[in-house]
Amino acid sequence: MITGLDHIAIAVPDLEKAIQRFVEDFGLTFKGKEDVEDALTSTAFFPVDKPSIELIHPLRGQGPVQKYLEKKGGGMHHLCFRSDDIEADVERLKAKGYQFLTEAPTIGAHNCRVIFIHPKSCDGVLVELNQPQ
Ligand code: CO
Repeated sequence: MITGLDHIAIAVPDLEKAIQRFVEDFGLTFKGKEDVEDALTSTAFFPVDKPSIELIHPLRGQGPVQKYLEKKGGGMHHLCFRSDDIEADVERLKAKGYQFLTEAPTIGAHNCRVIFIHPKSCDGVLVELNQPQ
């Protein structure tokens, strides 16, 4: 089942500048960066008292985040919900007609298993489910 809101991700054209802004201007604690090779994405996390804000930036100028920035220039990218049984949630949501971007979960930031629900299934919002392992 879904157990809570895990993080909100914002695609940013300049990751270092955005990290500085979130630390210095917004006063958040920077927990570090992580490159997610499978997603061709660099991430930076700022834990708040649940959920986190995730900054995402194209890894080596490639991948889905690069395409997003070219189209929109930055902005709110996705919401992520934590799951304690991602397979069961995927199966449950597929049965309700939700479309996913991949057939099965892949490895995301923090080594979580992740899968994305197509925005057209969620009023235009890209929604991620994740499960720590
Ligand atoms: Co995410």
